[in-house]
Amino acid sequence: MLTVFHSALEIQSALANKKEIGFVPTMGNLHPGHLSLIKKSLQENNLTVISIYVNPTQFAIGEDFNDYPRTLTEDVAKIKKILSHDDHVLVFAPTSDAELYPHGKKVITATGPCDILEGSLRAGHFDGVVTIVKKLFELIAPHRAYFGKKDYQQYVIIRELVKMNQWPIQIIGMPIIREASGIAMSSRNSFLSPHEMLSAIKLRETLLQLKSVIMSKNYSLTQINQQLADYNKDPNFNYLALHTQESLAPVSTLNQKMILLGNYQLGTTKLLDNIEFEGPA
Ligand code: PAF
Repeated sequence: MLTVFHSALEIQSALANKKEIGFVPTMGNLHPGHLSLIKKSLQENNLTVISIYVNPTQFAIGEDFNDYPRTLTEDVAKIKKILSHDDHVLVFAPTSDAELYPHGKKVITATGPCDILEGSLRAGHFDGVVTIVKKLFELIAPHRAYFGKKDYQQYVIIRELVKMNQWPIQIIGMPIIREASGIAMSSRNSFLSPHEMLSAIKLRETLLQLKSVIMSKNYSLTQINQQLADYNKDPNFNYLALHTQESLAPVSTLNQKMILLGNYQLGTTKLLDNIEFEGPA
């Protein structure tokens, strides 16, 4: 069963006294990556709530807010397709900020690693993300919430938000789902021309290559940092960086759990990808 709500008050009353709520926040234009989060929530919870809202607060001026694909009817059809007869799903698709913040929106400040990587490219982006996620968590009061690890920095910052507020919500990070070519699935891939789609694989290939360089044990951390600096001279790379997995801190030794993250510019589109791995002993 699937029911769509546009009103915050109505979804709140539908959720009153519900146990074991799984929550998948999205901006819609669902692809197999989102569907993998929904499937996981269906497996782990009695009831799954999926929000679909293109959140204006997380877009800076000049970003693609107006062009961001809005496909609610198709999204609902895609969700229905993966449901079995006893699944119970509520879709929350608020129509505007006025619905979510009837008493005025107060933008909160993100904590955690918010000024590096995406934060250095998109001023105020993570403040916009934590503001909407906090609002949605308050309305839905989930027990578990599912986030794709393509947006790894967002996942770390949301974990930090939950920890800081001591909310009893388990944050579950889900693996990146890829196209057959290997590129990470993203709603923004639809902005790419066929030619850009072919070039997009460069990001994944570079991450894999750097990982194998690190795993070869032939290079020191200083040499790896030099290779990263060389890649970052390519204007297509908005960044290519190596951080610790847990908190996205700088890496001080190569024998730990690390993540290579990249943001690759193709035309007006910024593509994200990353690889998590444990460095050589
Ligand atoms: O990852 C996204 O799609 C968005 O940042 C989120 C978490 C739904 C908040 O708008």
